[in-house]
Amino acid sequence: MSVTIILGTQWGDEGKGKAIDTFAGDFDYIARFNGGNNAGHTIVNEHGTFRIHLVPSGIFYPRVKCLIGGGVVMDPAVLIEEMDSLSQAGIKLEKRVLISPRSHVIMPYHRILDGLYEAARGAGATGTTRRGIGPTFADKVSYNGIRWSDFADSDLFARKLRLQIELKNKIIIALGGSPLDFQQIHDEYRGYYAKIRPFIMELFPIVQNGLKKGKKFLLEQAMGTCLDPDWGTYPFVTGSTTLASAATSGLGIPPRSISRIIGVTKAYTTRVGGGPMPTEIKEDSPAKNALQEVAATTGRIRRGGWFDAELTHFAVQVSGIDQLFLTKLDILSEFDEIKICTGYKLNGKSVHYCDVDSYQLDRVEPIYKSLRGWKEDIRGIRKYKDLPARARAYVETIEKLVGIKIGWVANGPEREAVIKR
Ligand code: GDP
Ligand code: IMO
Ligand code: MG
Repeated sequence: MSVTIILGTQWGDEGKGKAIDTFAGDFDYIARFNGGNNAGHTIVNEHGTFRIHLVPSGIFYPRVKCLIGGGVVMDPAVLIEEMDSLSQAGIKLEKRVLISPRSHVIMPYHRILDGLYEAARGAGATGTTRRGIGPTFADKVSYNGIRWSDFADSDLFARKLRLQIELKNKIIIALGGSPLDFQQIHDEYRGYYAKIRPFIMELFPIVQNGLKKGKKFLLEQAMGTCLDPDWGTYPFVTGSTTLASAATSGLGIPPRSISRIIGVTKAYTTRVGGGPMPTEIKEDSPAKNALQEVAATTGRIRRGGWFDAELTHFAVQVSGIDQLFLTKLDILSEFDEIKICTGYKLNGKSVHYCDVDSYQLDRVEPIYKSLRGWKEDIRGIRKYKDLPARARAYVETIEKLVGIKIGWVANGPEREAVIKR
């Protein structure tokens, strides 16, 4: 059996798209199992630069089949737009993208409620992507969701939608929003279904037969460990589980079949949206400018800060990660001094990530170790031994602090920019 999970160890945007693209060519199936179109996974290859939200990042390898598991929620308009742009780039999708009928559909009221709840939370807002993710997962667990399978029976779909519009309009009106029209949404979504229908198929036999025949599966997590609703910085989290364990229910694959778990970790830390981030660089400085980024999904600024080994160590433990894929080492090339957070103190006492809630995590004092920068462009380097000694020392310090090996170091966004150890 060969099932590998690739997951983010921080707050998302670690470079999972790039890591998956590095390995995908060796696999038969790449599958998404959690999240939705809040994800934005960037892939830079010979076809161009793609920011994909729903289609698994293996789509660029013709022999790979891409599965979207029942644990994923999706906005059909985003999916259709994404599939259209992939088709225009010459990527064949028919019989290659397979969507579980169990996956829940993001409806217009989910997006509206996402915005209204965020506005109501005011200064305590989560900073969601406003894609309707939380309300869709909330409907799933409160038995109000609409799945692709419901669309197959047009009367059933209409009944379910009518009830939801009635219920949601009451909430929307109470919160000051404008009510939605059943017929308009009905017709719009029937139109989406007509386009997506050829791609919908129960994935269970595919996964079971694939496992039996020894096919290779790569499972692509979205978001990052610390956005998990249970183990992340609640309530500044996302609506679905982001741990390795999510792959089993989100795709329907037995835990025993998983043979390898790779964690993708950025060589520093970023976070987009609200919530605590102990190593954030808040004061205006060249370091702040160098480490902040622009988000792939929403175009917002990702807050930047130093590498947090306490956080990544937690991610390694909670998901049982075997090896790390370190990304964006090249971004640190301009620094004279680079800091690594080795632990936290709260009111003078050492605490671990798991000891504190989000409000306490916001007040912890990071304990830093300083390393000297290498001050050299490392982007073209393809062999570990050719990296400057100080860059290697940085990589090896992270390994020691986090407790597992870094198997790959990425030093550029493009496909070739990976150093295998
Ligand atoms: P994901 O959500 O985890 O897939 O990550 P994103 O795609 O949202 O964000 C990662 C960003 O970093 C993208 O713009 C990637 O192209 C870029 N990237 C990934 N690895 C590297 C790297 O090693 N160096 C540089 N400079 N950019 C990288
Ligand atoms: P990828 O897969 C970074 C964050 C949002 C917000 C919180 C809740 O590209 O790494 P949501 O819309 O999910 O209800 O927002 O989660 N968030 C992400 N941050 N990368 C992501 O995905 C994210 N998906 C959600 O910014 O703070
Ligand atoms: Mg992203």
